[in-house]
Amino acid sequence: MLQIQSLQAGYGALPVLHGIDMSIGKDEAVAIVGPNGAGKTTLVRTLCGLVKPMAGRVLKDGADLTNLPPHRRAERGIAVVLENRNLFVELTVRDNLRLAESAGGKASAGVPRFSLEEVLTLFPAVKERYHTSVGLLSGGQQQMVAIARALLLQPDLLILDELTTGLAPKIVKEILGVLNNLRTQGMAILLVEQSITIAAEMTDRAYVLSVGRVAQEIKRGEWQAVLEDDSLIKAYLHG
Ligand SMILES: Nc1ncnc2c1ncn2[C@@H]1O[C@H](COP(=O)(O)OP(=O)(O)OP(=O)(O)O)[C@@H](O)[C@H]1O
Ligand SMILES: [Mg+2]
Repeated sequence: MLQIQSLQAGYGALPVLHGIDMSIGKDEAVAIVGPNGAGKTTLVRTLCGLVKPMAGRVLKDGADLTNLPPHRRAERGIAVVLENRNLFVELTVRDNLRLAESAGGKASAGVPRFSLEEVLTLFPAVKERYHTSVGLLSGGQQQMVAIARALLLQPDLLILDELTTGLAPKIVKEILGVLNNLRTQGMAILLVEQSITIAAEMTDRAYVLSVGRVAQEIKRGEWQAVLEDDSLIKAYLHG
């Protein structure tokens, strides 16, 4: 589904990512973990076209997306929930969602197609506040709007940057429940996550990013060992 090849990217002339190789298969949920400043958000922003790479390629389903602008990547099934959510806070929930609805591509085979009504059903708390300005919602509700908006782009790959940071445990549980459902319906997921416990619960495997490089891979079936061994966690997250 997604191939990242020798990707180098950064800000100005300064590279932050020094040659990243990764892949995400169809139906896979993959985590990116790593310490603050490792380059996780830079990678996400490069994947969705907000940061222009200096070298390397991004392929989706065999097609080269490296030089496509963000909206063209959305049309090809990549939807992103950014760290800062990027919602229109002055606009209502309804207007934020309707803008996405009109920008959406065609859903691929093998993933669900979402109507406005359906994304609202996923998040009842948001449905209740349909006519409220997004800026007046709680952080958790805003995160739900951001996910709902991403789903209206009809993606087959959902990229989420620090989805759960700063949210109450009850809200985190609700959001992760929805993500898990999407996963069982065939959505590929790339999850940038600070919490190893959540990453282990939500994904099949992971890449550990450190100073702009893939320092380690946690392969399928290895999560349990990582959770049980403190020294591994320390090495992964601070090494
Ligand atoms: N807009 C920017 N201009 C210049 N440098 C930046 C910019 N954004 C990030 N950086 C630098 O790029 C490096 C990687 O930052 P990035 O935000 O990608 O890390 P991260 O892994 O997402 O960290 P965190 O866990 O804190 O979210 C850092 O050294 C950061 O200072
Ligand atoms: Mg970040």
